[in-house]
Amino acid sequence: MMKNKLVVLLLVVGIVSLPLSNLLGLSGENEPINGVEGSSANFIKVTKILQNKCVDCHSPGMTRMPIYADFPIAKQLMAKDIENASARLILTKELYSGAEKFSPVQLARIEGVVLNNSMPPALYLSMHWNDRLEAEEQRTILAWIKDERSQLTWSQSASQALKGEPIQPLPLTVALDGKKVVLGQKLFHDTLLSGDGTLSCASCHSLLKGGTDQAKVATGINGQQGPINSPTVYNVMYNVAQFWDGRAKDLHAQAAGPVANPGEMGANWELVIEKLKQVPEYQTAFESLYAQQGLTMDTVTDAIAYFEESLVTPNSRFDQYLRGNDSILTGNEKSGYELFKTTCASCHSGPALGGLSFEKMGVKQNYFMLRGGSLTDADQGRFNVTKDEKDRHVFKVPVLRNIEMTAPYFHDGSASSLAEAVKVMAKVQRNKTLTADELDDLVAFLKTLTGEYKGKLLTQLTQDDLK
Ligand code: HEC
Ligand code: HEC
Ligand code: HEC
Repeated sequence: MMKNKLVVLLLVVGIVSLPLSNLLGLSGENEPINGVEGSSANFIKVTKILQNKCVDCHSPGMTRMPIYADFPIAKQLMAKDIENASARLILTKELYSGAEKFSPVQLARIEGVVLNNSMPPALYLSMHWNDRLEAEEQRTILAWIKDERSQLTWSQSASQALKGEPIQPLPLTVALDGKKVVLGQKLFHDTLLSGDGTLSCASCHSLLKGGTDQAKVATGINGQQGPINSPTVYNVMYNVAQFWDGRAKDLHAQAAGPVANPGEMGANWELVIEKLKQVPEYQTAFESLYAQQGLTMDTVTDAIAYFEESLVTPNSRFDQYLRGNDSILTGNEKSGYELFKTTCASCHSGPALGGLSFEKMGVKQNYFMLRGGSLTDADQGRFNVTKDEKDRHVFKVPVLRNIEMTAPYFHDGSASSLAEAVKVMAKVQRNKTLTADELDDLVAFLKTLTGEYKGKLLTQLTQDDLK
């Protein structure tokens, strides 16, 4: 029985090992695509590479597999590959024809696999040696990614040489309705929003503590220990959705949650509105800024959301580097950044180094086994929202701006220092054991991400600056 299976397998592998492109007579020459629109010379080359070497697994429904798809083992292997590959990157016709732009997340993921030389997968290459990416092709793909990034609005203030980087500088100013921001700031710090008048949003998201409570898990009214770590409120507008599991679609939807959550502020919106209406300052502010609706849950959360959108922390040393001040970073910090680009930036990219996508905690190793302890509901992550098995232990990638200030780390607050968090990340996400020097460099780089609020470095901000 075993022997038979082996023979079948060898047979299949034998057939499969004829390079597929040769079987199809496509060697190097794929069918021409119609109208590559407004694209760079690099893109014209890149789209050919993608169509020759990547679509078989990354364009479900468009594979050129049927030739051996009837062989049961090959068929199963391919189906699994296509399923897993599509969960990470779908190359649609719109994308490779140039009709649609690749998103920053797609660019970051492609850059990650090219820098690590990890696509197409090794097993597949052992059968389709022609599909290996040549060094020249890798350079072309990387150059194209830089072209694409340099066109993003995000990249505009970066120096010419650094417009193609996976991280972009935060804007120095944000254009927002100043009056709504001021109103939102007051509400954010007001304990009237909690059931027993003891907590404000700032109790768990102190602007002096990097936008967090610097605690393992949050403490709600009556001293209740919450199930999860408080994320920062700084730079939250770069999040695709809010909360670790992304259950709130935006800041407006998010702000309604904690007030009524019995484990957090434990209040009732109707009573909160009644109490706020008795404050003359709020009466006048809402009358002038929200003349139509007045003081309601919607307008309160709207003002808070405006305030949160103003919580940008620009001008970190790293941003100054991105804007062209090359000597502001030390050698160690620069080495750390280089390592970050190959090891971390496929997930932590964009102006806030995160917030753009959902990723599994433990891609390469089982984080939860390494951590120990029993699994909590919070550990299930995005699965709690979608009930899709693929989303189990998947979390929104946290932003890494001001990260030196927001220990302890992870949704469960399990990492007490930044070095520990980085070590765990390298291990569970990349299967990489960092040397002591690599770890030092990465931490040194991450510390260059601390920015300013109200014109002051976050680590030096005091209560007086918030008035
Ligand atoms: C034999 C099928 C196969 C081929 C061919 C293939 N891939 Fe993949 N790809 C996968 C699978 C399976 C995954 C998901 C698991 C993993 O990351 O290893 C994946 C994941 C990816 C990811 C996501 C990485 C991340 O951040 O998780 C990218 C990007 C990617 N592939 C790009 C490419 C590119 C570019 C090519 C062509 C040069 C290519 N792939 C060719 C199977 C394939
Ligand atoms: C008792 C502590 C506590 C209070 C009070 C509190 N929060 Fe939170 N906040 C948390 C915790 C814990 C989370 C993460 C919850 C989760 O993801 O399930 C969170 C998440 C958030 C997020 C999402 C950030 C991200 O990266 O996803 C924002 C924004 C936020 N809170 C704003 C507020 C605002 C506005 C208020 C006041 C109306 C408030 N919080 C009150 C503890 C608190
Ligand atoms: C596959 C995607 C992925 C890669 C690669 C990755 N991360 Fe993460 N990172 C995440 C996710 C998801 C979380 C949240 C996990 C959790 O809390 O359970 C996270 C959390 C973190 C945190 C804690 C943030 C906080 O506020 O608690 C730090 C620090 C961090 N990552 C740094 C890094 C570094 C440094 C690297 C490279 C060595 C890296 N990450 C690689 C996805 C990734």
